[in-house]
Amino acid sequence: MSPISQSSSPSTVPQSLAGRVALVTGGARGIGRGIALALAEAGADVALADLLEEQAQSVSREIEALGRRALVVRTDVTDRAQVERAVQATVAHFGRLDIAVANAARSIRRRFIELSWDDAWATFSVTLFGVWHTCQFAAQHMVRQGEGGKIIIISSIMSELATADSSAYNSAKAALNEFGRTIANELAEHRINVNVIQPGWIDTPGERMHFSEEEIQEGGSRMPWGRLGQPEEIGRLARFLASPEADYMTGSIVRMDGGLIMRM
Ligand SMILES: NC(=O)c1ccc[n+]([C@@H]2O[C@H](COP(=O)([O-])OP(=O)(O)OC[C@H]3O[C@@H](n4cnc5c(N)ncnc54)[C@H](O)[C@@H]3O)[C@@H](O)[C@H]2O)c1
Repeated sequence: MSPISQSSSPSTVPQSLAGRVALVTGGARGIGRGIALALAEAGADVALADLLEEQAQSVSREIEALGRRALVVRTDVTDRAQVERAVQATVAHFGRLDIAVANAARSIRRRFIELSWDDAWATFSVTLFGVWHTCQFAAQHMVRQGEGGKIIIISSIMSELATADSSAYNSAKAALNEFGRTIANELAEHRINVNVIQPGWIDTPGERMHFSEEEIQEGGSRMPWGRLGQPEEIGRLARFLASPEADYMTGSIVRMDGGLIMRM
């Protein structure tokens, strides 16, 4: 059985984000790239904030090929000043900021009793505090702009699963769920929607650093949907959350995992 269309052609995607500007952290590859392209397909101009400048430039060219404008801002999200500059650069370049996707994360996988404090700190710095900085500077700008906005936080089903070797990552992701709900509560009066996506197991360069092709195929076949998710599938969910169709949705934690959690 051939899979139902995995990607949407730009011409069939409603231009619900025309005139909108998005900032995506970790947009150089994987899920961040999938989200950046999905937003661009719907008409948004996109700034990519990532450490991987060359790969971000390549995504930038893909965005331009869709007829949208793109900007690469080399950013380490663990550095608060760099995140502030990324937001400022986005606004300086495009004139506004409407959508922020806090996606960049890092996972150093090791037994808790062997995990060094440096490695735990590195994981928290990107996965939790990087998201904190991104959401805070984006929200401050959106409030000043006075036209509402959309903030999307990428958490993980690992926030609900006590999988081994991921104590820092799992707890950072669990913190993000409540962080997202709390700032959603505060920002509602500014008409800024904040929602959290919990991806399941998605086929990305990051995952392929931990698993071989064989392990990915074998692991996928054991999942309810029979395969890993694709970055563009998370992209389409983010696009919905960024669109006016999701205006009444805030403080939600949305799982997209091909049913994985039911088998864990
Ligand atoms: N792939 C999965 O199975 C999966 C599952 C659940 C959640 N997620 C989440 O989805 C998001 C993206 O994951 P992915 O699998 O695409 O990862 P990935 O490793 O393929 O891509 C992550 C991107 O983030 C960037 N990044 C890392 N540290 C950064 C920093 N300090 N500053 C700026 N950019 C930085 C990387 O350069 C890279 O471009 C993460 O939040 C991850 O936790 C992934």
